[in-house]
Amino acid sequence: MSEVPGLLKKLMEYEKSDFYPFHMPGHKRQFKNSFAKSFPNPFSIDITEIDGFDNLHHPEEILKKSMEWAAKIYISHKTYYLVNGSSCGILSAISGTVSRGGTILMSRNCHKSAYHGVLLNDLKVKYVYPQLIGEFGLQGGLLPEKIEELLISHPQIEAVLVVSPTYDGVVSDIQAIAEIVHRYHLPLIVDEAHGAHFSFGKKAGFPVSALESGADIVIHSVHKTLPSFTQTALMHVREGYVDMGKLDRYVHIYQSSSPSYVMMAGIENCIQYMSEEGLKEMTAFYDRIKGVRRRLSDMKGLKIFTGQEKGEYGVYDVDCSKIIISTKRTGLSGAELDERLRKEYHLEMEMCGPDYVTAITTLADTQEGLERLCEALLEIDSDISLKEKNDNGEELLSEEYIDIGSGMTIAQAMDSPREKVLVSESAGRISAEFVYVYPPGIPISAPGEVLEKKIIDLIMRYKKLGLPVQGMEDEKAEYLYVVKVIESNNEWEMMNKRKTKQ
Ligand SMILES: Cc1ncc(COP(=O)(O)O)c(C=O)c1O
Repeated sequence: MSEVPGLLKKLMEYEKSDFYPFHMPGHKRQFKNSFAKSFPNPFSIDITEIDGFDNLHHPEEILKKSMEWAAKIYISHKTYYLVNGSSCGILSAISGTVSRGGTILMSRNCHKSAYHGVLLNDLKVKYVYPQLIGEFGLQGGLLPEKIEELLISHPQIEAVLVVSPTYDGVVSDIQAIAEIVHRYHLPLIVDEAHGAHFSFGKKAGFPVSALESGADIVIHSVHKTLPSFTQTALMHVREGYVDMGKLDRYVHIYQSSSPSYVMMAGIENCIQYMSEEGLKEMTAFYDRIKGVRRRLSDMKGLKIFTGQEKGEYGVYDVDCSKIIISTKRTGLSGAELDERLRKEYHLEMEMCGPDYVTAITTLADTQEGLERLCEALLEIDSDISLKEKNDNGEELLSEEYIDIGSGMTIAQAMDSPREKVLVSESAGRISAEFVYVYPPGIPISAPGEVLEKKIIDLIMRYKKLGLPVQGMEDEKAEYLYVVKVIESNNEWEMMNKRKTKQ
């Protein structure tokens, strides 16, 4: 018999090590903390839809009650427990609000699950682009007026989907966006995957939640910023602009037919904790993070994104729990800082960009963990080499997207006859694959888009910087599938014949 690769053993060894997580899940493996202390061994409560325990796909009893209770806490008309992550909520929201082949207005910095929703429903997309915060090479917020311009020029749009906060904690003016979208009698979907804690943290100083700001469908990854198991998420819906029945049909398509009771109980446990003890903890957490930010405020090379940009670049508010450490003024790249933190200090970050590193902090973080992060950054900063001159405009491209559509939808481009070319030789071709750095999983290029030379240069640069460029079938990201150029009518016929046979 072949040897067991040993995933469980590896996880258990890791748990015993001194590696500290500045990444999700939000419980930070603090199993002795009060949110986890009374949670039993998962084996002991892992059941299926037996008598007395309801059915998530036809909730009438305990699960219905539990979700109604959650809706009251979050102040929504209906709340769904999701066991397939926010991805499943985003897919449901898109399928439930836009007709097949219809048009959606989406922010270009959406997560790949939104693009998958577009693909599966063969939608056409109009993009609204986030502003750029040049100094950090980060995406800023969305300008409400840009959304209105698009709604005026494209009356066929059926729903609007925006991401707020971004992976980096930038919050857009959702209230203003909701007012505009509702003026056109459309639903506003907000991917607030990274903001599940907002509803419990307003008094402490965290941003106002999208639900409170008037959004119609709000999706939360409770596992990202709250103490809940990986994959657990919520979808909240407000009545008015959403066809509740249609949305409901899709949630049941995208959710597993065997939803885990461990996860569902984990969601309930998390919400209960957050609405009681956690609510008070949010203030203490906010103060701890402010303390971290103060300590890191005058490093000579590394720089913390403080959110001073509020009011500019579409930034309405900033979630201070996301700590973005910019390396732009230094000789280090984001990937190099990430590696130093891991190798020398045993601190695991959430992600790194070309010139920054992101640490996710939550109320479950220990003072000792935060202290270790401060010490490590101050030490690295003390002997860091500085860049002689500031970045040139070329580097600003790092978060810039170029909207060159080919006229093909994502679905058409993905399903078209295609051919494999070297990424370095793909300029001018129409992409048939997604290309993104994961995390954050925001496409640098989506199928159907023309691969501009600038985009190719960006992909090559990200690869050179050691960032995880993914999405293409070629795992080494050297080759990319592009839409095949059909030379003659004859070739078209051959292709179509082959397709019909398949
Ligand atoms: C902005 C955003 N939306 C949605 C998702 C998908 O969330 P989940 O992993 O819960 O499916 C992610 C995941 O990282 C994300 O960053």
